[in-house]
Amino acid sequence: MNMTEIDNALRQLRLSGMQQTLSTRAMQAQASQEPFLETFAALLQDELERRSSVLMERRYKRSGLDEKASLADLDWRFNPKIPRAACFELHTLKFIAQGANALIVGKPGTGKSHVAKALAYQATLQGYDVRYLETDTEFARYALAGSQDRANMLKEWVKPDLLIVDDLFLARRITAEAAEALQAIVHQRYKLRRALVVTSNRVVQDWGKYLGDATMASTILDRLMHRCVMLEFEDKSYRLKEAAARLAIQADGS
Ligand SMILES: Nc1ncnc2c1ncn2[C@@H]1O[C@H](COP(=O)(O)OP(=O)(O)OP(=O)(O)O)[C@@H](O)[C@H]1O
Ligand SMILES: [Mg+2]
Repeated sequence: MNMTEIDNALRQLRLSGMQQTLSTRAMQAQASQEPFLETFAALLQDELERRSSVLMERRYKRSGLDEKASLADLDWRFNPKIPRAACFELHTLKFIAQGANALIVGKPGTGKSHVAKALAYQATLQGYDVRYLETDTEFARYALAGSQDRANMLKEWVKPDLLIVDDLFLARRITAEAAEALQAIVHQRYKLRRALVVTSNRVVQDWGKYLGDATMASTILDRLMHRCVMLEFEDKSYRLKEAAARLAIQADGS
């Protein structure tokens, strides 16, 4: 086989990692008189790496995340009261294997969603099936859907190893359909011991008000909190800090 034929064979065998690096590895082997097995091992490694990065990217796309957030992006000095140790403990993802939950509540702009997204992204890197829900948008979609589509959506929300319900009750009251969806998610995932992370800037005492049903709120909270880490994010809003910085720049410029 000549190079073009080898290239075609690799394509046919769907060994795109090897195909991409073949010419470089061949040049390298020739230049350094490398033993065959060394070159072959390097090519295999290229294929393995390519496959794992393709899988990671696929899991990221399927998760519905809109950014690859990391705990390293956070300025921990800005809000020293944020439970840093608990955030890193969650980041080990042991809670996913344990089927435990995390409830992240606190003031707006303090990094709750950022932390939830960082956990979700880390989970995709570790091979977990993850779904991230921007709750108001997804629940509005659910409320408008027909019964078959609703059943499918619920299935998608119950199935993954980790579900993130982000910014719950951002718009205060949610529709009766949305409340049912939340109840179904929490009840079913609880039964199946699948991890759930919820973020909200509403204190749990008010959830009954936003759900329009105090009993429903307590059955949801009961299951959510049973195996759960609760994180409270207090202190100042990072959004306001950024807005103030922008204003200062504008004032300087004028
Ligand atoms: N300590 C921090 N260091 C750096 N960036 C931060 C910090 N806290 C928050 N941010 C950034 O500020 C913005 C708002 O944070 P985020 O959306 O996580 O807040 P939130 O607590 O979820 O607010 P809300 O209750 O309104 O949903 C994001 O862009 C986030 O990356
Ligand atoms: Mg948020």
